[in-house]
Amino acid sequence: MAFPVTRLRRLRSSPVLRELIRETKLDPADFVLPLFVRPGAGVRRAIGSMPGQFQLSVDEAVKLAKESWSAGVRSVILFGIPEKKDALARGAYAADGIVQRAAAALKDALPELAVMADLCFCEYTDHGHCGVVKGTRVDNDATLELAGKTAVSQAKAGADIIAPSGMMDGQVKAIRSALDGAGFQDTPILAYAAKYASGFYGPFRDAAESPPSFGDRSTYQMDPPNVLEALREVELDLEEGADMVMVKPALAYLDVLAAVKQRFGVPTAAYSVSGEYAMIKAAAAKGWLDEKRIALETLVSIKRAGADFILTYYALDAARWIGA
Ligand code: PBG
Repeated sequence: MAFPVTRLRRLRSSPVLRELIRETKLDPADFVLPLFVRPGAGVRRAIGSMPGQFQLSVDEAVKLAKESWSAGVRSVILFGIPEKKDALARGAYAADGIVQRAAAALKDALPELAVMADLCFCEYTDHGHCGVVKGTRVDNDATLELAGKTAVSQAKAGADIIAPSGMMDGQVKAIRSALDGAGFQDTPILAYAAKYASGFYGPFRDAAESPPSFGDRSTYQMDPPNVLEALREVELDLEEGADMVMVKPALAYLDVLAAVKQRFGVPTAAYSVSGEYAMIKAAAAKGWLDEKRIALETLVSIKRAGADFILTYYALDAARWIGA
């Protein structure tokens, strides 16, 4: 039955009616707040390309996690800036590494908080690549052993969820078997399954002090034009034991996110990355876009496309905006 019997504008006529039929709703518990932790105490070092984001010492990270918890955010993901970088990324799996210390302190302060540990080596290697370098190549299989070790040390420190982001083949299998061997059968893996070699990570590399010193990441991260390959990545990660999968970045890859969710129907995350945040901040600072409106529209789009939860630098702001 078409016009004039059907008039879709009828249900748009008031805020209450619009809310009643809204298909997708944001909830503060949908958001995961990324935290960049560094050594020291009382440190809040502003990240130039990400206004409103900071490198934090562990005590300050705990403070921010508490504020976020009060606003309804239930999860954080940790990135570490270690004291020292070396060829074998020792800071990533040191029992007293920066992420290990942060995980322990966060669980101590907020036992119910879901603490995710990003598992990658670019912040810990002196060359800035996401694995062990042999010659000018990142050696896949040598990296797997370190990945297993790192996962176990993060879990021992208190991390609830291990999130490998290095895009090494077989990393989920290596991590699952290392965790199981160390008694962490119940620690879930959130696999950065479809992670693209993206220009949108630019500001993050400032934040985590992790730009590669030579070459780029296109021999391990995915080529942006490919979506069928993303489905293969997800399928393999699930076969290797991933409990949840992620698509990253989010906004320029909503088609990938939708395809992954529709095909596999498993818990699916999206990472709205540093460049997505920086673009909104920059346009808002110029008065060209309404920050709150654009940030929330972006987040609801990501959820509508299929994300069950979203890693976003807007986690705390968005939680407050929707709570208010
Ligand atoms: C790798 C990693 C990166 C991001 C998360 N984990 C950067 C990269 O691959 O270069 C990017 C996150 C963002 O841009 O917000 N450890």
